[in-house]
Amino acid sequence: MAGSNAPIGVFDSGVGGLTVAREIMRQLPEERMVYFGDTARLPYGTKSKNTVIRFSRQIVRFLETKHVKAIVIACNTATACALEEIQMELALPVIGVIDAAARVAGSVTENYRIGVVGTTATIESGMYEKALRRYNEKAKVYGKACPLLVSLAEEGWLHDTITEEVVRRYLKDLQYKSIDTLILGCTHYPLLRSTFHKIAGEDVTLVNPAYEVAMELRELLTREGLSCGEDVGRAGEKYEFFVSDAAEKFCSFANSILPYDIEQVRQIDIEKFEADG
Ligand code: DGL
Repeated sequence: MAGSNAPIGVFDSGVGGLTVAREIMRQLPEERMVYFGDTARLPYGTKSKNTVIRFSRQIVRFLETKHVKAIVIACNTATACALEEIQMELALPVIGVIDAAARVAGSVTENYRIGVVGTTATIESGMYEKALRRYNEKAKVYGKACPLLVSLAEEGWLHDTITEEVVRRYLKDLQYKSIDTLILGCTHYPLLRSTFHKIAGEDVTLVNPAYEVAMELRELLTREGLSCGEDVGRAGEKYEFFVSDAAEKFCSFANSILPYDIEQVRQIDIEKFEADG
């Protein structure tokens, strides 16, 4: 069993999960972290549940070799498809982004009409809806897949008229439903927060799963007696980054959104970490 000074394992299909890593750095600055981005096999949002489960199992095997004390599935799609399986298979605490966001959305809505935007796989899984029902049984949940937004965010078109137009089109259906709460259910969407805010309007509360899961992680570590007792200081020593492809591209995206410049990103062969059973 890893001790409280062990790192937290965080994984995503690629760069998007850095929005979660960034929140963990902000909210739990003393914690160490090992981040894995599956850049060779993204996007996950268009893949089948079984494929995402297989990929997630391999990543978890890799993170176990790093002796992590807990795992955060930063990817909404991987949370939707694989969290339940991974939780059943692992003795370590494992959390995903969906539950934390659903808990908050279920408590802030006043008219019980909640919108969720995400990848096609996340929306089709119905996992946000399932989680929201647990926290607010009156909630009516309206999902909308917004597949184009991942590419726009990765292109850096965060405040662009084209992005605005795309968000406007995607949100139209949800606006007809008079939602008062909108979950940004994809790792990339917090980067487009101001565009969502502009199009959805003042009356719609935006819920950012990246922020909420970092809060949940803090509660979890405290509850399990796993909070880090000492701050090792320098970000370069606390955080390790691994990818399955294109380390340099990952590095430059990371350096555009993280609070410090990453010095090293290592590429590994994730297929080697095939699960036994
Ligand atoms: N990380 C994914 C998510 O949050 C978005 C990118 C992808 O489709 O892989 O659902």
